[in-house]
Amino acid sequence: MAQMNIKALLWRGSWIAVLYTTVWASTTMPGASALPPTAAPTTPAQTPPPTTAMSAPIEAPGLLNVVAYGPAVWSGSVPAGDAGFATLKAWGVQTVISVDGAAPDLTRASANGIRYVHLPIGYDGFDDARKLQLVRAVRDLPQPIYIHCHHGKHRSAGAAGTIAVSLGWLTTDAALARMKISGTAPNYTGLYACAASASLLNAATIDQASADFPSVTRPNGLVEAMLAIDDTNDRLVAIERAGWKVPADHTDLVPVAEAAALADHLRLLAASPEIAARPPSFRDLLAKSQSIAQRLEDQLNTVPSGDPARLSADMQALQATCKDCHASARNQRPAPRDVSATSAAANPPPTAP
Ligand code: HEC
Repeated sequence: MAQMNIKALLWRGSWIAVLYTTVWASTTMPGASALPPTAAPTTPAQTPPPTTAMSAPIEAPGLLNVVAYGPAVWSGSVPAGDAGFATLKAWGVQTVISVDGAAPDLTRASANGIRYVHLPIGYDGFDDARKLQLVRAVRDLPQPIYIHCHHGKHRSAGAAGTIAVSLGWLTTDAALARMKISGTAPNYTGLYACAASASLLNAATIDQASADFPSVTRPNGLVEAMLAIDDTNDRLVAIERAGWKVPADHTDLVPVAEAAALADHLRLLAASPEIAARPPSFRDLLAKSQSIAQRLEDQLNTVPSGDPARLSADMQALQATCKDCHASARNQRPAPRDVSATSAAANPPPTAP
């Protein structure tokens, strides 16, 4: 009888009711067993959300790498266009939390009755203040909640794992295991450390975080972006010197992850509002730089051993874009500015050239 009800609910597309009433409390997985297995999902309604009983990420229209971290809290990739938001709506998602640097798609979210909260974190993890904000957002805002970064593998998983431990939903070991399911690369040690060091938080501690959750957080300034680009570039240079392999003196480095991070930094910079005010030549160079970094990532991804000569040719072209842009951007700047770490930390708004 109970099984009949579940099926009836599933066929009506009421995934959420099922999740709340059944999945979290039991070990059965109606989402996975009650429905006939389908081939590639084509519509949101055909793809139920994942449960914490699942040991692999799921794909749904407009969403990748979706993994459950709580009864109705999922981590995954940035919702892609109308399809992504249609899936979230079909799942009953009330709140989307972005931990990515890019500005959220507020228009599509509100068109689907979904609230957006934007609390970006780094690939190196996040501090206690950010942790409390994330935990409070998930504790207080209407669920189901979808947490995303760009790919949905690293930062959203690190945030979701930390939140799940802080709210007592998962043990530390279970949270770390979930992150591995999400595909969090082992070299993101800061993200793993956040989840590993998390512990159950009491209400008073969580209440210390502001309940004023921003829908958009201004992206980091150009200097801050450049510092991150430079760090990543340095690590890629070390990887190139090691013949496009893990350097013997830096065994923590993962070649493809560094190329991915560099492409990501350049992509976020290109999408930031301050760049829109720059001259076309600047934006063209940035786009060129980004596409070369993306090519490096693709090569390191699809050919495990890589073609060192081709990789190095691209690396050389990449360094040329850094040099070219710095040369021309310096000429465009009206007056020399202090670009020390202090000014980067203060994150001053850039002046239009
Ligand atoms: C499209 C233009 C552009 C590209 C491409 C570019 N940069 Fe920059 N970079 C700038 C500008 C402009 C500044 C100066 C920012 C300022 O002072 O406000 C800068 C500053 C820097 C700084 C100084 C940051 C500081 O304050 O200490 C470093 C380091 C840097 N870039 C590294 C790189 C590397 C490495 C690459 C290539 C992988 C690169 N950049 C690609 C435009 C670019």
